[in-house]
Amino acid sequence: MKRIVVLVSGNGSNLQAVIDACQQGRVNATLSAVFSNKASAYGLERAQAAGIPAFSLDPKSYANREAFDAALAEEIDAYQPDLVVLAGYMRILSHDFVARYAGRMLNIHPSLLPKYPGLHTHQKAIDNNDAEHGTSVHFVTQELDGGPVILQAKVPVFEDDTAEDLNQRVQTQEHNIYPLVISWFVDGRLSLREGQAILDGQILPVEGHA
Ligand code: GAR
Repeated sequence: MKRIVVLVSGNGSNLQAVIDACQQGRVNATLSAVFSNKASAYGLERAQAAGIPAFSLDPKSYANREAFDAALAEEIDAYQPDLVVLAGYMRILSHDFVARYAGRMLNIHPSLLPKYPGLHTHQKAIDNNDAEHGTSVHFVTQELDGGPVILQAKVPVFEDDTAEDLNQRVQTQEHNIYPLVISWFVDGRLSLREGQAILDGQILPVEGHA
């Protein structure tokens, strides 16, 4: 059985979607541990409720980003994960951390990348009068929110939408596509090769999967 470690910073609704998918056999993997940079992250409670070891590390206890990431990596590696899943993990990653998990770390980002890397993506879609918005699952590379996209899901943007309306519409999609992509990875169908995401021998993204 493949092993997954999940990193969260907040609510953990995407973590919950992965927990549910593992329990229901849609993802053929064990969730070995959940880590957070915030002790108050509700995702840690979700993990504990599912019987998954859950820990927080406080960035303030470390000299700098590199020291924090090195300590976190040591904790993660104790579980020998096949895959590291970022699920609302809101910290910039150091170079060494990204390099260590190259080709085996996924992120979900709430925009149709390459549109809107970074923060406040829902408000940006509204401010720009976008007709559609969405979410992207991608391999993590050294470029922030810039790794090869694996799968996207689109949602409409309505005239009177608030950022929270959009957030909810986007998250409903996230809870579908993230477990699906994770299942592809653990089933050995998905890999990162020479900077490209490959599914079943095809270069991604392919339209029409979601
Ligand atoms: C998700 O919508 C995810 O796309 C976003 O944070 C939310 C976490 O929600 N991630 C980022 O913005 C990463 N840059 P959750 O804690 O309920 O899963």
